[in-house]
Amino acid sequence: MITVDPFDLVIFGGTGDLAARKLIPAMYHRHCAGQLPEQARIIALGRKDLGRDGYLDSIFDKSRALITEQYFDAAQWQAFTGRIEYLQLDADSDADFARLGDHLQDTQDRVRIFYLSTSPNLFAGICQRLAHSNLALSNTRVVLEKPLGRDLRSADEINACVESVFSEKQIYRIDHYLGKEAVQNMLALRFGNSIFEPLWSHGKIRDVQITLAEQIGVEGRGEFYDSTGTLRDMVQNHLMQLLCIIAMEPPISMDADNVRDEKLKVIRSLEPFTPESVISNAVRGQYQAGVIGGDPVPGYRQEPGIDADSRTETFVALKARINNWRWSGVPFYLRTGKRMPEYVSEVVINFYSLPHSIYPSSDGIDSANRLYIRLQPHEAIELHLMAKQAGDRNILKPVKLDLDLAGQNERHLDAYERLLMDVVRGNQTLFVRRDELNAAWQWVEPIMNTWAALDKAPEAYEAGTAGPAAAHDLITRDGRSWIEDY
Ligand code: BG6
Repeated sequence: MITVDPFDLVIFGGTGDLAARKLIPAMYHRHCAGQLPEQARIIALGRKDLGRDGYLDSIFDKSRALITEQYFDAAQWQAFTGRIEYLQLDADSDADFARLGDHLQDTQDRVRIFYLSTSPNLFAGICQRLAHSNLALSNTRVVLEKPLGRDLRSADEINACVESVFSEKQIYRIDHYLGKEAVQNMLALRFGNSIFEPLWSHGKIRDVQITLAEQIGVEGRGEFYDSTGTLRDMVQNHLMQLLCIIAMEPPISMDADNVRDEKLKVIRSLEPFTPESVISNAVRGQYQAGVIGGDPVPGYRQEPGIDADSRTETFVALKARINNWRWSGVPFYLRTGKRMPEYVSEVVINFYSLPHSIYPSSDGIDSANRLYIRLQPHEAIELHLMAKQAGDRNILKPVKLDLDLAGQNERHLDAYERLLMDVVRGNQTLFVRRDELNAAWQWVEPIMNTWAALDKAPEAYEAGTAGPAAAHDLITRDGRSWIEDY
């Protein structure tokens, strides 16, 4: 079943959380699936002097916790970890890069992947040192974790440094949402079926809602989060990528640039925010103490690593418009936040109601058709339709056509499994191109700048609630409401 060439996966930030919780488990699953060639190696790099065994001990608990019981096999784990090596490396040390070069000396002809799972301010220096140590060869690929910069300028600076060493074809900018099975199903739904296309535009669709709600707070990432905030952490990347997939034109093929050209067009068609429209169409919130799943949780400003007067947002809601032929007049309501009542990621497509109903109205029943694309916690696609109630009268009831993606027998790959294997195969379709990233920063910058200029704290919301009241007002003043039938 091996479908890829031998490769070396070299992880900068190998002792970090992402490596232990996502990258190593992802590779373990691909190992168990028989997809990794025998020679494939994983070389974790870190500043600590751990040695290979010490490294494996240090990641075991975190990695194991992310592999469900059903898929954990001690013998397979043992065999898999035989592929893992650990090298002590300081990202500022030329001598350490020279040692890395020696280590990789014998495998120059393999696909070589440098996964930069470090703070983005190290990216430029790492790429320069890779070049100086002759480690950037034509079969080398570099993976960049988000967030890539804090704004357009800093993202551009980082990209320019990386591109002075690697070509765009060698650069894989990760947005893990693109690796989610349900996101690829959104593409399959739209471009693998003929029946949706005639419905997929203004005139048929009244509005689109995207919700990425998390119950977790900042989870030990206080310092990072307080200098980042939800707009940079979730909106500029994950939310905008989902929006692109919903709104893009059919690409001429699944080829990486064809898909990315279409996504870029969506971002460029988004109506730019002005200081006035930020005030009317963008809401930012910050959670206060509350209760999640029956347990009391502290407010954002009481979390470790957070400034006691912090004005960083933990919730964002936006009303966006796409100024193009297909989407003219269709509002896109977007929201994402931490410490919300449920862990839910979903897209809801609201179709127009009937122009004229010939059935007696059933009180309180909303007869408009609706398509749900549920990403989390369960993957599903549901089409809500109206059907006749059994009996001798013509009364309608809502029913749903349910494609339960998670319920099917085969195991669903974690986003990182899919994305890592795409890097190994050299497929960039699910990675973000530099111009896309720039356009996304350009779109969110007026929001960041307006908020920064306002002498105002984000609106408070109680942990365990669906964001501040202003997020509710943002949609209800258009005569609509957030759809929350999870
Ligand atoms: C990450 C953010 O990119 O995505 C986190 O940095 C967030 O703050 C996470 O919790 C959400 O990912 P998922 O896959 O759990 O929806």
